[in-house]
Amino acid sequence: MSQLQAPRGVPEYLPPDSAEFLAVRTTLGRSAELAGYGYIELPVFEDTAVFVRGVGESTDVVSKEMYTFTDRGDRSLSLRPEGTAGVMRSVLEHNLHRGSLPVKLWYAGPFFRAERPQQGRYRQLQQVGVEAIGVDDPLLDAEVIAIADEGYRRLGLRGYRLDLSSIGCKECRPVYRAVLQEFLEGLPLDEATAERARINPLRVLDDKRAEIRVLLTDAPLPPDHLCDECREHFTRVQQALTALGVRYTLNPRLVRGLDYYTRTTFEFDHPALGAQSGIGGGGRYDGLMASLGGPDMTGIGFGLGTDRTLLACRAEGLRPGAGRRIEVFIVPLGERARDAASKLAGRFRADGVPVDMAYGSRGLKGAMKAADRSGARWAIIVGEKELADGQVQVKDMANGDQRSISVEDVVGQLLTEGM
Ligand code: HAM
Repeated sequence: MSQLQAPRGVPEYLPPDSAEFLAVRTTLGRSAELAGYGYIELPVFEDTAVFVRGVGESTDVVSKEMYTFTDRGDRSLSLRPEGTAGVMRSVLEHNLHRGSLPVKLWYAGPFFRAERPQQGRYRQLQQVGVEAIGVDDPLLDAEVIAIADEGYRRLGLRGYRLDLSSIGCKECRPVYRAVLQEFLEGLPLDEATAERARINPLRVLDDKRAEIRVLLTDAPLPPDHLCDECREHFTRVQQALTALGVRYTLNPRLVRGLDYYTRTTFEFDHPALGAQSGIGGGGRYDGLMASLGGPDMTGIGFGLGTDRTLLACRAEGLRPGAGRRIEVFIVPLGERARDAASKLAGRFRADGVPVDMAYGSRGLKGAMKAADRSGARWAIIVGEKELADGQVQVKDMANGDQRSISVEDVVGQLLTEGM
C-alpha cells in the first residue's frame, strides 16, 4: 500500500516547531486583546453566497481559488478563503451591530485557497485577523494598523515594512476608475490585460510584469483622486499613526486582491520572504455590510498570515515561544516504582508544572536518554528500594548534580528552587 500523504500545499506544524507556530498565533492575538477585541470562532465553511457577495465575484480568490462543493442537501458551500465576509455575516445574524459600537472582534485559524503551492503560498493558510465594525473614525484605522505592528514587534520582528494608501470611497472611486480606464484604453495592452482593465482596472495597477509596469509609469493613481472627505480621513490616519510611533511608507500603487476595500488600505511586507513577501494586509470596507443585506455600516480590519509571519521570524533568526516544553522528567525503575511515578507526575501537573515520564519498560539508560532529549530541567529517578524509604533521586540536568529528596516534599522543593 502506498504511503498516505497530506494534500499538496498544506503545511503541517509538528513538535517541537509547532510551539513556534502557536507562539506566533498567541502573540498576534494578544495584541488584539490588548486593544479590547473579543475572540470569535467562525465556521470553516459558509454558504458560497457569503463570499460571492462579500468578497466579490471578479476576484481571483472567489472566481479561481475557492473550494466549493455541494452538500447532501444540494446547497452550495465553500471553505472560507478569508475571514472578513464570514465575520460580517455572523455580526448581522447575531445582531452584534445593534449593540455598542464599534464591534471589535479577532479570529484565528485556517483559510483555504486553491493557489499554486510554493514556499510561503499554501492551499491551507493560517491567519490571525481583526475586524472593527460600525464607527467611521480615522483613529480606529490607526488602532487596527498599530495592533498588527505591535504584534510583529512583540515577536521581535524588525525587517518588515508597512505600505499605506487610500483608494477612495463610493463617491470618488467611480470617478477615479473612469479616469484610469480612459488612461488604460490608450495603452497597447494584450487582450487579457485589456479585458481586466474593463472589468477591474485597479487590478491592472498591480500588474507585476516589467513591460506593463513601464506602460503604467504615468498612470493616474488613487490617492491623487480622493474627494475632500477621503483626503481628510487619510491625512488623519497618517497623523494618528505617526503619533502612535508606527512607521509607514505611502505607496499610491498599493492594490489589494479583494473587492470590498474602500479608503485606507495597507500591507505588511517582509523582503526576506522573496516572492510571497506579504505577511499581512487589510483595510477599510465601508460598503461590505450593505452588500450582505445589512445596514450601511463601515468597517476596517486586517488578516495577518501566521505561516508567513513564522517564516519571517525564522528569516530573522527569531525563535518565538522558545523555552522548555517539559520541566520535569520522571524515570521509574521497576514495576512498583511505575505506579508511584505516575502518581507523582499527576501531582506536578496539578501544580501546573509540565512533566513527562518514561512509559513502557525501558532500562535506566534508555530512560535517561529520553529525559535528556525532553529538555527537562530536572530528572527524578524513582527506585523501588528508595521508595520504600519515601525517597526519590533528583538530578539537575544542567550540571548533573544528584541528591535524595522525600517524595512528599519533591514537588514543593522543586517549585521553590525554580524551573
Ligand atoms: P489577504 O491579503 O488576502 O487579506 O490575506 C491576508 C494575509 O494572509 C496575507 O498578507 C498573507 O500573509 C496571508 N495569505 C494569504 N494567502 C496566502 C497563501 N496562499 N499562503 C500563505 N499565506 C497567505 C484577507 O484575507 C483579508 N480578509 C484581510 C482583511 C481583514 N481585510 C480587512 N479585514
